[in-house]
Amino acid sequence: MPDISPRGLTRLAFGGDYNPEQWPESVWQEDVRLMREAGVTMVSVGIFSWALLEPAPGEYDFGWLDRVIDLLHDHGIRVDLGTPTVVPPVWFYRAHPEALPVTAEGVRYEFGSRGAICHSNADYRAAAAAITTALAERYGDHPALAMWHVHNEYGVPVSACYCDSCAAHFRRWLADTYGTVDAVNEAWGTAFWGQRYTGFEQINPPRATPTVGNPGQALDYRRFADATVRENFRAERDLLHRLSPGVPVTTNFMTALSQCDSMDYWAWGREVDLVTNDHYLITDGRRTHVNLAMAADLTRSVAGGAPWLLLEHSTSGVNWQPRNPAKAPGEMARNSLAHVARGSEGAMFFQWRQSRRGAEKFHSAMLPHGGTDTRVWREVVELGASIDTLSALGGTRTEADVAMLWDWQSWWAQNLAWRPSEDHDPRERADSFYEALYDHHLTVDFAHPEADLSAYPLVVVPALYLMTQAAGDNLRRYAENGGTLVVSYFSGIVDEHDAVHEGACPGVLRDVLGLTVEEFSPLLKDERVRLTAPDGPALTGDVWSEFVVPRGAETVWTYADGLTAGRPAVTRHRTGRGTAWYVSTRLDAQGLDAVLARAAGDAGIAPRADLPRDVEVVRRSGTSGTYLFAVNHTAGDTEVPLDTPGTELLTGERAAGRLAVPAGAVRVVRLDG
Ligand code: GLA
Ligand code: ZN
Repeated sequence: MPDISPRGLTRLAFGGDYNPEQWPESVWQEDVRLMREAGVTMVSVGIFSWALLEPAPGEYDFGWLDRVIDLLHDHGIRVDLGTPTVVPPVWFYRAHPEALPVTAEGVRYEFGSRGAICHSNADYRAAAAAITTALAERYGDHPALAMWHVHNEYGVPVSACYCDSCAAHFRRWLADTYGTVDAVNEAWGTAFWGQRYTGFEQINPPRATPTVGNPGQALDYRRFADATVRENFRAERDLLHRLSPGVPVTTNFMTALSQCDSMDYWAWGREVDLVTNDHYLITDGRRTHVNLAMAADLTRSVAGGAPWLLLEHSTSGVNWQPRNPAKAPGEMARNSLAHVARGSEGAMFFQWRQSRRGAEKFHSAMLPHGGTDTRVWREVVELGASIDTLSALGGTRTEADVAMLWDWQSWWAQNLAWRPSEDHDPRERADSFYEALYDHHLTVDFAHPEADLSAYPLVVVPALYLMTQAAGDNLRRYAENGGTLVVSYFSGIVDEHDAVHEGACPGVLRDVLGLTVEEFSPLLKDERVRLTAPDGPALTGDVWSEFVVPRGAETVWTYADGLTAGRPAVTRHRTGRGTAWYVSTRLDAQGLDAVLARAAGDAGIAPRADLPRDVEVVRRSGTSGTYLFAVNHTAGDTEVPLDTPGTELLTGERAAGRLAVPAGAVRVVRLDG
């Protein structure tokens, strides 16, 4: 797994996207002076600069970028250099209009935004290779160069193209994957609705159809689109490795953004030298710091537990949501340091200086329109100092307590059309299970369903609809060997082709859970069911219920009303040396809490009752020591019990017994020993 730091960066990373081309050169001097004042250690440059760097085909103008990089270098600021392949110049599109992507409805996008790319297009691939080569030859051994930032946020705004070159590329991908067209027919179940193909040339992308198309085809197209984009990343990466040896190559992920689910980051994590992530607070009324923690945990997991880097977040509001609130005083620091707690080697932002023109001028920045006499700037300077103070913890790893299974491919499959209920949202279940664990102060590693789980006392499976036989076997082994499993409804239902596993549901989980599900019985909008237990509180479910038939499992909670009244709702199965819980309805937060508390008991995890739920406590450890982070998201002062005394790094004070964490503050204790 990748564990490579930006070259020459001796402190934690602090800085942001720097777009000097939006400003006259006279401003650049002020930029670098203020960067130093803020403690900036690295900036990302040139991500959108193709049109300036190559004003006409094959004609390069590197002068301005030379001056920018030299200036940064003179001021000791490391450079994360972009390959600008997310936004080809207009001359390219006018010469190659077919490089613009086409929607499933057949609409071809126009130039004038960014990310309008058909990743199968040979002319695009050639042009991207040419500009990447030119940049690598010019800057590959520049002393300021810390790492390469390939492209930008692959997968958005266009996750798949449906044009004719993609159709041809898809057929090649199918031939490579399946060998014969009969194997495709079998995998996609084309006997249904008479969709049988007799030659690869007949197969198209899943373009608009009058009603639901073939689910196997749709799922494979998502795999194909992801793999195609990855081919283009790999091509750039390999050029950079060859022409700029020793410099790590990354591309910025967006691991936990539900708006961006098109990349299989388990696969992507294996391709980059350093995992980097962008995270923005989604203001949908939920606790934003919980989603942030989840994103950070997921990113660390994609990096295989190794340190990673938060490459973008915001100092205050963004400008692309329906409503974009500013961050509260102190919130930016809490956000940044919560990422660091969960493994980030620093905190970077979009962007350094707030734009005056273009689509993102109302997006916050490190240096706002109002300049240095602003709250945001003062907080940026303070954060820069805090992050610098923490530099010794670079390279340490976050300690996790439990694992949650996560699989983008299952998510893709589950979101296809014609499911038992449109109210069931797999992402909602993942968020809710995560939140319940967060509220118990448990740090979560995410794991692929086929990964080795033996290190975790508790593994949670929130609605993992697509599960291979290998994944099912993995969970059975895990429980039999002493693990504790909690599985949500609608898990283990289909195989990798969206075909229902043979026999009763939940196919690959029947044995480990000790039950079968005879029928799904989704609930009507706003319908609720009550669950009762002889020795537990009454719980409430909505969205989903099931006719569960225990075949070895004991019933813990029973449906008290609804169509399934009197039948098992939550079950527990002792299997081998372990235990597998099953939850057959959508429990609210209180219900999840009750079930997870029982399961945690089976797993031997003692609940932490000594902390308010919005006080986050996370540990990083490694050769330089053990660091305890306490992030107080509440409006009240609090105290965190300390088993071991230590030195609080942000204040320099000794801490023993109880660590005082003022309202809204972060404390980081380097524990003695
Ligand atoms: C993304 C992009 C940036 C910028 C920010 C704004 O993360 O990578 O270029 O558009 O969003 O939030
Ligand atoms: Zn295309």
